[in-house]
Order: sequence, then structure tokens, then C-alpha cells
Amino acid sequence: MAQRPRRSVRNKLYIQLLLLSVVIGAVTFVISLIAIPWLPKVASEQGERIDDIYLFTVAICIVVFAVVAAVSVYAVFKFRAKPGDIEDGKPIHGHTGIEIVWTIIPTILVTAIGIWSAIVVVQNDDLPEGHRIVNVEARQFAWSFNYPDEADGLNDMRMGELVVPVGEPLELHMRSPDVIHAFWVPEWRQKQDVVPGITTFYRITPTEVGVYPIICTELCGLGHSVMRNQVRVLSQPDFDAWLAEKRAAVDAGGADLGGNVFANLGCAACHALDAAGATGAVGPDLDSVLPGQSADQVRQSLVDPNAVITEGFSEGIMPSFGSVPEDQLEPLIEYLVGSVEALEN
Ligand code: CUA
Repeated sequence: MAQRPRRSVRNKLYIQLLLLSVVIGAVTFVISLIAIPWLPKVASEQGERIDDIYLFTVAICIVVFAVVAAVSVYAVFKFRAKPGDIEDGKPIHGHTGIEIVWTIIPTILVTAIGIWSAIVVVQNDDLPEGHRIVNVEARQFAWSFNYPDEADGLNDMRMGELVVPVGEPLELHMRSPDVIHAFWVPEWRQKQDVVPGITTFYRITPTEVGVYPIICTELCGLGHSVMRNQVRVLSQPDFDAWLAEKRAAVDAGGADLGGNVFANLGCAACHALDAAGATGAVGPDLDSVLPGQSADQVRQSLVDPNAVITEGFSEGIMPSFGSVPEDQLEPLIEYLVGSVEALEN
């Protein structure tokens, strides 16, 4: 009959286990929360709340891991079979006390994470009245943005990058004409699918001025990996200046506007064009393919890019720009034709 270890022996065992747990917990804590910056910096109010839950969850994981690892490591060394010992271990029939404890504690912890998460979801979905709205279009394989709160033509401009003022609550109204995409800014933490046929909403209050990547996180076709863009978070005066510059381009019209549309639509990300200082290498070099093309041919390449494919490039990579309003498409074509004519002369 097995004898219960004496009290002093058990106390020694508990102290050794406790010390081992503390050491393992401390090492895990340093690796997971201090030594390595696993996450990019956080740059939104919503992201800060998400990070709090993340830290809470990681803290729970560290404690649970430390206890489990300590007991495992202790058992491996303490109860190792002696050389030549081929006896079976003693049969054990569970331990009701321990089973109750290891059911109740995780239940409490998981419920706490669930309740806190639900509160944060509600807080993050709550936006004050009078927030700014930005329309986002995700299509294979580009992002474009539009500011419906502006007036007199600026509200029709499709922008190739997202520019927003710091500290102002925003609601993105996101649509897709083709397949499911997903809008993600790592520094903002929030992520939201963009689904054809419905409008999805993304609420955010940027807290840090800076330039952050926008990444499509839904496998959406051949060009998914290049479906990236950026958001520029500016101070309020810088943002007003940016809007004023766009306003001036709209008012000027013609090739001036066309050059702006070229920048807005993000053409430079894929194409090289001397006149625009663009050096993209994903698509054909415009300085070499544009000369000799009529305005109608340029229009076809924009509206129906798969109609004629330049040798060495694949079909289905360039998105159609057929939905760009005519009063921007026309200046863009004028700009493109004009920019290489200038080159030839
Ligand atoms: Cu759009 Cu992936």
C-alpha cells in the first residue's frame, strides 16, 4: 500500500514546483512581452482596446503555460524510471479535487475574455455623430477612395490613397464590384471584409500621424499579393492643405487634373512614366508603350485592359478603370497622350 508523503516532503515539493513555475513564467514573459516586438505599434483608439485584451489573454497564457510546464519538467526529472526498472507504474484513478479546479479556473478565465471582448466590440463600433465618411472600393487588385462629404466635383474624385486627419473618427463605407477582399491596416488592428453586393463598415479613430500599409487579407485572385496601398494620417492643417490641393486640381481641369487622376488612381504603383516620375515595374512601361497610341486606344486600355495585352505581361492583372467618372477619365487620357508627345518632341 502506497503511503502518503509526509507533510514536510509535500511542502518541499510545492515550493520546488512554485519556484520552477516562477522561473518558466518569467522567461516566457520576457520572450512574449518584452524582448521581441511581436506587433507593430498601435495607432488607433480601437486598436488600443484590442491590444489590452490581447495582453490580458497573453498574461493568462503565460501563467497557465508556466504551471503546466513546471509540473511536466518536474515529473520528467523526479519520476524518471531507474535504469533496469521495467515495472509498470501504479494504476491511478483520477483526482476529483484537481479536476474541479482545472475546470472552474479556465471557465472563469475564458468567460472573462469573452465578456471583455464583447464590451470592446460594442465600444469599437460606437462612433460619435458627425464623423467623416470615406467610401472605399476594393476591386481586383486595387483600392480606391472617395470623399462624399466634400462638394463641387471633389466628392466625385476617386483617390488612389487614403488620407485622413489624426484624431477624427472615421467610418469607411466599403464596397466591392467583383470578389471578397478584406481591408486591414496592421497599426489600426481592426480588419473588415469587403463583400460584393453589400456595404460593410469600418470604424476607426486614428491616434498617430504616420504612413501605414493597407493590406488585402482575403485571397482574391492572381494579384492578391500586390493588392496593397497606404493610409497617410495627417495633422488637421496638413489634411486641409491636401484637400485644398485636390480642390485646386479639380478646378483647373484638363491635363493638370489628368496628372492628378494618374496619381490618385495609383497608376504609378505598377507603371513607369517619366512625366509623372513614376517607376512602377509591375505593368508595361508607359514611356515605351504609349507613343503612337491614339486617345481611343488609351481609353480602351483603361476601360478594358484585357483587350490588348502587351507582350511579356499577363491578362487579368490590371483592373478596369471603366467606373472612373468621365470628367476624370477624359483628362487622364489627355494627360497620358500629352505626356509622351512631350517626350517625342
Ligand atoms: Cu483583394 Cu486579396
